[in-house]
Amino acid sequence: MLTDAQITQWQQDGFLVLPDFKSAQAVAALRERSLAIVDGLVLNGTLPVFSTRDRQRVVDAALLDSADQVHCFFEEDAIDAEGRLQVPKDQAVNKIGHALHDRDPVFEHFSRDPLLAELARDLGLERTLLMQSMLIFKQPRIGGQVNWHQDASFLATDPQSVIGFWFALEDATRDNGCLWVEPGGHRGPLRERYGRTPHGLKMERLDDTPWPSGAATRPLEVGAGTLVVFDGLLPHASAVNLSAQSRMAYTLHAVDAGATYAARNWLQRSADFPARGFA
Ligand code: FE2
Repeated sequence: MLTDAQITQWQQDGFLVLPDFKSAQAVAALRERSLAIVDGLVLNGTLPVFSTRDRQRVVDAALLDSADQVHCFFEEDAIDAEGRLQVPKDQAVNKIGHALHDRDPVFEHFSRDPLLAELARDLGLERTLLMQSMLIFKQPRIGGQVNWHQDASFLATDPQSVIGFWFALEDATRDNGCLWVEPGGHRGPLRERYGRTPHGLKMERLDDTPWPSGAATRPLEVGAGTLVVFDGLLPHASAVNLSAQSRMAYTLHAVDAGATYAARNWLQRSADFPARGFA
């Protein structure tokens, strides 16, 4: 489905922006389903908080458990010191993850899309495994920032094979925390790795190359329905959403079954519920 010019651009930049990849109906269906999942959420016990600013506060067990489940994670700023929600739950959720594509029929239909399978093949994935899915809410006023990172830090394979598919479910602008990327940055080193260590889940520095800044970075302001696809080594980030508009997005991460999936990755699927491809 990609033109030669798009393949060349992919190789140069490490990402592609594909407007109108998903129809308005498909996008609306995913938004509605996401809100219904949150609506059906029964809150009890300690609330898991998701924050990339302070990973130590991530409840390791909740994260590990979400590898093959559908769990909601909350904004840090939405919960007080005692773990009580400060805003209604539908405004407090940071994201839902990480097996929406395997557990939820609406998400499965959106994810196992023949067009997406074709795109993955065009980008070099020979035997795709859909490892991880996330619905990111980026709530008005409290939607947290996501620091510069590379997705290969979280889903390491040898050789590197992870590709991220990022679908805008609402218009993404600089005001509501759109993606920022470093064009061409996928040719740089993997700076960090996150995963299982004897001391729990940790982020470890692998390379001192600084994260990009200034003119090396570019905001990707895109309309709802746009797919941004990027190389697992491409540095990307998003700012805090201080606007009154949410910025919902759905991400899907794929690896090649021919590459060796790292045993230290936080996300592991059991033999009785293995990761599958687009079929
Ligand atoms: Fe990412």
